[in-house]
Amino acid sequence: MTSILAFQGAIIHSTTPTTLELLENATLIITNGRITAFYKTPAQTPPNAIPPSAQIHHLPPGDFLIPGFIDTHNHAPQWPMRGLGQGLHILDWLSEVTFPVEARFADSEYAAGMYEQTVGDFLRQGITTASYYSSRHVGGTKILAEICQRMGQRAFVGKCNMDRNAPDYIREESAVESLRETEECIRHIRGLSGCGNSDDSSNALVKPVVTPRFAISCTTELLQGLGEIVKRDETLAVQTHFNEAQQEIDATRELFPQFGGSEADLYESYGLLNGRSILAHCTIMTDYEKERIHALECGVAHCPIANMTVGGGFMVAPVRDFLRRGIKVGLGTDSGGGWASQMLAVIRQTMIASNAREVLSEGKDKALTLEEVFYLATLGGAKVLCLEDRVGSFEAGKELDAVWVSTTTGLQSAMTPREDGDSLRRVFEKYVMTGDDRNVAHVYVRGRRVAGCK
Ligand code: GUN
Ligand code: FE
Repeated sequence: MTSILAFQGAIIHSTTPTTLELLENATLIITNGRITAFYKTPAQTPPNAIPPSAQIHHLPPGDFLIPGFIDTHNHAPQWPMRGLGQGLHILDWLSEVTFPVEARFADSEYAAGMYEQTVGDFLRQGITTASYYSSRHVGGTKILAEICQRMGQRAFVGKCNMDRNAPDYIREESAVESLRETEECIRHIRGLSGCGNSDDSSNALVKPVVTPRFAISCTTELLQGLGEIVKRDETLAVQTHFNEAQQEIDATRELFPQFGGSEADLYESYGLLNGRSILAHCTIMTDYEKERIHALECGVAHCPIANMTVGGGFMVAPVRDFLRRGIKVGLGTDSGGGWASQMLAVIRQTMIASNAREVLSEGKDKALTLEEVFYLATLGGAKVLCLEDRVGSFEAGKELDAVWVSTTTGLQSAMTPREDGDSLRRVFEKYVMTGDDRNVAHVYVRGRRVAGCK
């Protein structure tokens, strides 16, 4: 049966990295989850634009629709440990705080309960797409993917690969076993949408992603094997941590002296860098490495909360330079290295980090604008995940992944109050800088309502 939805009211989205389109009274028609018409003004809207069978939603004054947030870097099993271990350097934080928590996900019952809450929280925050690292466990990884599918969150889910430099209780038995389990998870996740092979899986809501934790935790045999899986399959995404912090960079150089300190050369040599690679952090980057990841069309998952709180002291990625060079950039909560599950918090920290970068670069790398940061959280993230033809902004032919933001007074949200005479731009700015999940009235993925506080 055909389902038709219509939204009428204020709509805000990015059309370019620097342009926000603010429409006071637009109309979106959604047919079976896909945008079939987008009229930007009442004058452009034909009298019979809305089919009689449509379910019509009128947004009251002060409310507006934005694209769903896209979280390009998220560790699902770390959701219950957010905020812990602040100030620890990365390898100490992993062994003291992270590995003991991730080890609990060997228990499928525990994983099922915790992942249900995790996915529910991210959806409630308006995150309609997330790229997840699961733990190393096959059972938990399958459960996470099933929960995303059932709760309606668009997601990439990857079993974490780690066959060395981790304690016995969490390290994988061998590269061979890790590779076998990875392929088992890929098959299982593709099976969820009824898509048995890679060719017809592009329409799937939940997709697999190859997930070597980082070079330090993988033997060369494992990296080689994962690279072969990626090379064999042109639809498979891959994600890893990349030049996150000095302690990690030094340890990587020691383990892989043949690459002379270049993580770009390291990951490329194993076949792990291509247009579907999602590289988290990228804080300390040589010009050579920036050139390589640009040439290889990799995307950057910028995670400023984690970068400035755990892992490395105070790390500030050169986002302005990435954008100048045309490197794809999105934002990541990095939950739980990052303490927040809210993309709004990540947006705000991105602005703070970019101010720091302007100072550190003596004015060369100008701070990011609100327009640019919102782009990174939506359309920029969609590009990193190669989903820009489907989501990230509103356009006929794309799918409707959206957040209905309400700024009606009486919500008890922390948002700066909307006042009579406020322009749409001003209300939007108040929401982005001070709003919270109490402003998230409804969340839609593919036109299906999946969360919201109304
Ligand atoms: N490097 C390797 N594993 C991790 C992780 O779980 N979080 C962060 N932030 N960095 C990592
Ligand atoms: Fe991370």
